[in-house]
Amino acid sequence: MCGIIGYIGGKNAAEIVYEGLENLEYRGYDSAGIALKIEGKNAVFKKKGRVHKLLPLIEGIQSDTGIGHTRWATHGKPSDENAHPHTYGKIAVVHNGIIENYGILRGQLEKNGEKFTSSTDSEVIAHLISSYYTGNLSEAVARAVKMLEGSYALIVMCEGVEEIVAAKYKSPLIIGLGYGENFCASDEPALAGKCPQICVLEDDDIAVISKSEVAVFDSNLNPVTRQNILNLALPAVFDLGNCPHYMLKELREVPASIKNTSSAFFDVADSFKEVISGADRIIVLGCGTAYHAGLLGKRYIESFARIPVEAENAGEFRYKNPVITSGTVVFAVSQSGETADTLEASKLAKSLGAKLVAVTNSPHSQLSRLADLVLPVVAGSEICVAATKSYTGQITALYLAALLLAGAEISGENTRNLGICAGQCKDLCQNLNVETVAHMCAQSSGVYFIGRDLDYAVALEGSLKLKEISYIPGEGYPAGELKHGTLALIDENTLTVVIITDEALAGKCANAVNEVVTRGGKAAVITNVDSAAEELKGQAEIILLPKCEKYLSPLLSAVAVQMLAYRTAVILGRNPDKPRNLAKSVTVE
Ligand code: F6R
Repeated sequence: MCGIIGYIGGKNAAEIVYEGLENLEYRGYDSAGIALKIEGKNAVFKKKGRVHKLLPLIEGIQSDTGIGHTRWATHGKPSDENAHPHTYGKIAVVHNGIIENYGILRGQLEKNGEKFTSSTDSEVIAHLISSYYTGNLSEAVARAVKMLEGSYALIVMCEGVEEIVAAKYKSPLIIGLGYGENFCASDEPALAGKCPQICVLEDDDIAVISKSEVAVFDSNLNPVTRQNILNLALPAVFDLGNCPHYMLKELREVPASIKNTSSAFFDVADSFKEVISGADRIIVLGCGTAYHAGLLGKRYIESFARIPVEAENAGEFRYKNPVITSGTVVFAVSQSGETADTLEASKLAKSLGAKLVAVTNSPHSQLSRLADLVLPVVAGSEICVAATKSYTGQITALYLAALLLAGAEISGENTRNLGICAGQCKDLCQNLNVETVAHMCAQSSGVYFIGRDLDYAVALEGSLKLKEISYIPGEGYPAGELKHGTLALIDENTLTVVIITDEALAGKCANAVNEVVTRGGKAAVITNVDSAAEELKGQAEIILLPKCEKYLSPLLSAVAVQMLAYRTAVILGRNPDKPRNLAKSVTVE
């Protein structure tokens, strides 16, 4: 969370940093700020609210060096004062992460007479660097970061010093390498189309960045080498085409995500077989939507390969004392590959001897670098805060992984079925009519999503997505659980969305619809079981899906629940791309 960028070079830093921040806004949008070097001094422009609020402040300004920040507030409410960059003396700094010992550090600095102007944890970094600065910026940064506990990616600018200096621990940071110009950013989209190469910094690295070169050092300022790789981020990911929102655009990219993920799977199939050989227990970890994909992964692996699987929320897993055996393989599922809880849980599992498979669409992420193997999710960059095409890509990768674990061939009927499903998703993204149910959602005080088995996993996702972007309270439940408590919440203002894609379970789910309707609640059914649609059409609003291979039905119902959430948010006038209080890529714990 929080996006940061730095630039030094022959172009106008004001424009480059501003554009970079716009591309990073999905990482947080509580406030934004830019510091520019003007005649050797740090000039700071910052404002509560979204990045575009900076535009009038920086218009017409020329500078060759700048740093910028778009904030997701952790310590200190969103305000002009708490916006980054933070400055002290000659130092200006932007920070992503959390400084856990900032209270102690601030107390000590205040005792020395230093005055603070914000209530953020980050401001202590500017004070610390300033207190250690005696003419060598990288030395001051190296000493300052040794005092910090928590996580940080930071970029520092100092009056009287030409270079900018960056440092990282736990939070991601990359360098962009250009000709006569160099960049630094929290993640790749900030550098889309800006430079031919990037290099990814490791924990404890300190980088000294000038117009003509980048030197990387360890925490004791010994030089280290980091590999340069091609910058594959393309400006096209920010092109909305004819869609009003990234969420719709990205939903329409679901078919490509399914197809590309399944093609890419072939390239890693042999290495995957090696990593999983001897696996007798699997743990799938993830947070939010990625965890929901993991729940489906569990069902696939257990059904196809009969290997016991636990699907766990990564934030919980890391605080227990997990049992890892020599045959344990951990699948860590993450769109960004930077989610702090998923990373820490993966590190814990690895340290206890588990093999680690990352299921991610971020090949340069910390998770990918930590993993023994990456199962690529080829969904492309996702800009909307709410995950869509990455979820369906994760489901595809886990489905294929489960088939391989079962010793099945990834060819013939299996891949044909995925192709058919991708085609059906394409049709759904264009033509599925969710309007009536979306209006019902928009008018409800609570929306409950229920289902059984695979449909339950998708019900959780439907509920999360609707809450996240429409702000309507609700919950996802196993259909059978309804009568164990939630039924007490049902009244004429609530809507229950029942997902039914398994013919064998349709009758039991139909009971749940009856229980809801009998108590005055409204119901909607998302189904591809004709008999269920026929039986329930008098009692519930029906969204009919096409038939498909049983285990692939979550791809279709995922599109349906995500489209439903999208339309509900739009009807309510919410911005589905930037829901309140949220940010993509949760890099703090
Ligand atoms: C919901 C959503 C989040 C993420 C979660 C994990 O729409 O996007 O719940 O799924 O924060 O993020 P990643 O997948 O980057 O680890």
